[in-house]
Amino acid sequence: MSEPAYHPGLEGVIAGETAISTIAGGSGLRYRGYAIEDLAREASFEEVAYLILHGELPAAAALKDFCSRLAAAAPLQGEVLDFMRSVPRDTPIMDFLRTAASALAHFDAEAVDTNSEAQLRKAERLLAQFPTVLAAQRRIQQGKEPINPDPQKSFAANLLWMLRGEEPSPQLERAMDVSLTLYAEHEFNASTFAARVITSTLSDLHSSIAGAIGALKGPLHGGANERVMEVLQEVGTAENAEPWIRQALAEKRRIMGFGHRVYKEGDPRARFLKPLCQELAVETGHEEMENMAEVIERIVVEEKGLPPNLDWPSARLYHYMGLDVTIYTPLFVVSRVTGWAAHVIEQMENNRLIRPRSRYIGPEPRPWTPIAAR
Ligand code: CMC
Repeated sequence: MSEPAYHPGLEGVIAGETAISTIAGGSGLRYRGYAIEDLAREASFEEVAYLILHGELPAAAALKDFCSRLAAAAPLQGEVLDFMRSVPRDTPIMDFLRTAASALAHFDAEAVDTNSEAQLRKAERLLAQFPTVLAAQRRIQQGKEPINPDPQKSFAANLLWMLRGEEPSPQLERAMDVSLTLYAEHEFNASTFAARVITSTLSDLHSSIAGAIGALKGPLHGGANERVMEVLQEVGTAENAEPWIRQALAEKRRIMGFGHRVYKEGDPRARFLKPLCQELAVETGHEEMENMAEVIERIVVEEKGLPPNLDWPSARLYHYMGLDVTIYTPLFVVSRVTGWAAHVIEQMENNRLIRPRSRYIGPEPRPWTPIAAR
């Protein structure tokens, strides 16, 4: 039997088919055929989530029903809130979301039902529940009472409302909405692939989402947006940006928020978000950080040819919105659950167990050694 080709990190391997999104030609991103720039500019996150989950943009009545279903599923059961209060306060929110994906299954009557309609209903419930969990856990950590979801508000406004307890400005609502749209889906990235692998064993949706959250958490994936902010805080001033980045590159440090496995010419999501980030920086008095970021970006591109990815501007956007760094990666979860769930459903509808091979690099065959002779 001839050896199959080996691609470390599955780089360049087509590991399955999808109708959900494409990184068209390695430079653009489309959800269900629509360019993300059009979606981010024109659509609400609710429309985008519907599109990703249901395959088509919703007409007005379908959107209204979808929003009503989300609003109905958003409040948490008392038992879930009690459990949240019992978790140590310093538990990272990302870790808690992974736990929550699992725990919420115990309160979902359809948890083990893997037919497509049930999966869709569960996906909508998780989409509705994650913002409430995120905001409630953050407030419990701060010693505050969780704020109930407001069914009259948009998804983005409600999330900000539950986090902060004040009406968000239209600028903040829009910034959150756009960032959710840009984070919603990204074909066979590591967390989505993890979800598909779990689904391919015919496991349930909540298990796949819990696994995906575990994969997203790492700093090479979703965890990068929190590390980006740590870097910017370490740099401190625009004046310090150039010496800092030159030294970091000389030390061969990995600069979080730069580079991408697929986008070698630049991440279209980062390109779209940059001007919005600049606008918000002016509105919120964060020009210094924006200047700092600009210097770092210029030098990383010049010296390493590495363009920024989405996490580079999104970390700043969240900072300008007054959000705490501990919720940046959890915000990615709140949005990406749409993409993950759509992939889980797609995988289940046309399943083949994902079971690749490995190249063996261990010891040659050797004789058994009895314990007394070792
Ligand atoms: N800073 C410095 N050098 C880098 C970076 C970076 N951010 N990214 C890649 N390189 C270098 C790397 O050191 C290597 O150089 P050499 O060939 O001299 O050893 C070369 O570029 C290729 O790197 P790689 O790690 O083999 O490339 P990859 O395709 O596996 O990398 C990546 C993709 C995203 C893991 C990587 O670019 C990285 O670690 N970036 C920083 C983390 C980050 O921002 N992740 C977010 C990804 S996008 C959105 C998301 O998923 O959240």
